[in-house]
Amino acid sequence: MNIKFIKNSSPTSDSHVIFVYGDRELSASASKVDKATDGLISRAMMVGHFEGKFGQTIDLVAPAGLDINRVLVVGLGDEADLDEVKSQKIGGKIMASLIASGDESLSIAADTPKKANISGAEFAAHLGFGIRLRRYRFDKYFTKQEEAKKPSLIGVQLMCAAQTGAQNIFDDLDRVADGVSFARDLVTEPGNVVYPESYAEKIKELSDVGIDVEILAEDQMEELGMGALLGVGQGSACESHLVIMHWNGSENDDEPPVAFVGKGVTFDTGGISLKPGAGMEDMKFDMGGSAAVVGAMLALAGRNAKVNAIGVVGLVENMPSSTAQRPGDVVTSMSGQTIEVINTDAEGRLVLADALWYTQDRFQPKFIIDLATLTGAMMVALGHEYAGIFSNDDDLCENLSKAGAQVDEPVWRMPIGKAYDKLIDSKIADMKNIGGKYAGSITAAQFLQRFVNDVPWVHIDIAGTAWKTEASDVADRGATGYGVRLLDQLVREFYED
Ligand code: BES
Ligand code: MN
Ligand code: ZN
Repeated sequence: MNIKFIKNSSPTSDSHVIFVYGDRELSASASKVDKATDGLISRAMMVGHFEGKFGQTIDLVAPAGLDINRVLVVGLGDEADLDEVKSQKIGGKIMASLIASGDESLSIAADTPKKANISGAEFAAHLGFGIRLRRYRFDKYFTKQEEAKKPSLIGVQLMCAAQTGAQNIFDDLDRVADGVSFARDLVTEPGNVVYPESYAEKIKELSDVGIDVEILAEDQMEELGMGALLGVGQGSACESHLVIMHWNGSENDDEPPVAFVGKGVTFDTGGISLKPGAGMEDMKFDMGGSAAVVGAMLALAGRNAKVNAIGVVGLVENMPSSTAQRPGDVVTSMSGQTIEVINTDAEGRLVLADALWYTQDRFQPKFIIDLATLTGAMMVALGHEYAGIFSNDDDLCENLSKAGAQVDEPVWRMPIGKAYDKLIDSKIADMKNIGGKYAGSITAAQFLQRFVNDVPWVHIDIAGTAWKTEASDVADRGATGYGVRLLDQLVREFYED
């Protein structure tokens, strides 16, 4: 879909959007349309009890006096409250209501909000970003689709006074949206399409935007001593891989990189500690952490971010078979620490253990952030709204929390500490891979912490946020691409030259 910014003009598109503020105050463009239609907008607002509340809409089809198919009147709420996220949400709402309207062209009268904290250019650009995010569909496997359900919109024109400024801001956001879409695609693809080898091949596409991609195979990981990661994949016919992405955007080549590490379990059956059948199909999204890392790297490179960044993803499939690892097995990680595998379904932490150690050991990064759909307990604690963060560094946590609020991918800090760490001591090895009945997300984080030494580190458990069964303003139900905007914003705000 084509999104363009043009100077204010009268609409020639199929659909046209006008805005109304919270006190039933028409934007200047809305007033014009009202006049051209002999007061249709004012009347419709009265009859439809439309107050201009945030996100409220009225759809006026075949309006007399205008040569267009429809006018969508959209409420923005209190003009003074408008910000980037709210603008994105409005863009998303517009897209959701018009995506399959049958109309092909849309124009939006994005008048500069006068009392708000954002400029007219920012407002228009973030409307465009929300539109693009909500436009995402994954329909490649439908061979038959009703015409009425197919997306019809081809082009969107955002009419605004600060057209050039808006286009500039949008061009960056558009690259971030590329990262989000790439991540959503990876997460939505089923396990027979995205498996470690095909996934690694897919990541190679990132070399087109200037990212160096290295792929380690099992023999190389064996040499490095990655017994924890390899143990998880040993029951699968698919070979495990570790993929390392390098983006060198900083002007200073020697600037230590920021590092992102992702859990990429392309399918999690639980292994010999097999999961129940009902709902197991969801476990194709158990590579959501790695997809966020890949998407974020794509976003950073796409918008030419002035930062050195490393992305490391551990790609494995967790299957039960006669070669699978057994409950009770003891494996030796790259760090040299030994692990008693009590439950083969607690596999994500085993993959991350070696990926984290490898990352800190090889790159001495400024910090490491790992993302993983790590524990069901995280969903119990925080639902689908916040991701939980666990960290050894207050400053990094604070920065991440700010970034999360700015892009509406919020995080909530959870505690870690010695008392929890004790719960994963093993009778036979240095540690076991599960704790007790309680605090399951925290004991998982304690496990990871044993593989990061003193480097500033945050673990983000995205079990509840990677996939949603309900649509949000900027995403249909399904894969959210959670983490891409968060990591991009963190870098943008705090770690670029
Ligand atoms: N991938 C799952 C966690 C998960 C479950 C994410 C449901 C999203 C939705 C992880 O590998 C897992 O199986 N964790 C176990 C750990 C337990 C065995 C200690 C869990 O949470 O039940
Ligand atoms: Mn599992
Ligand atoms: Zn898992």
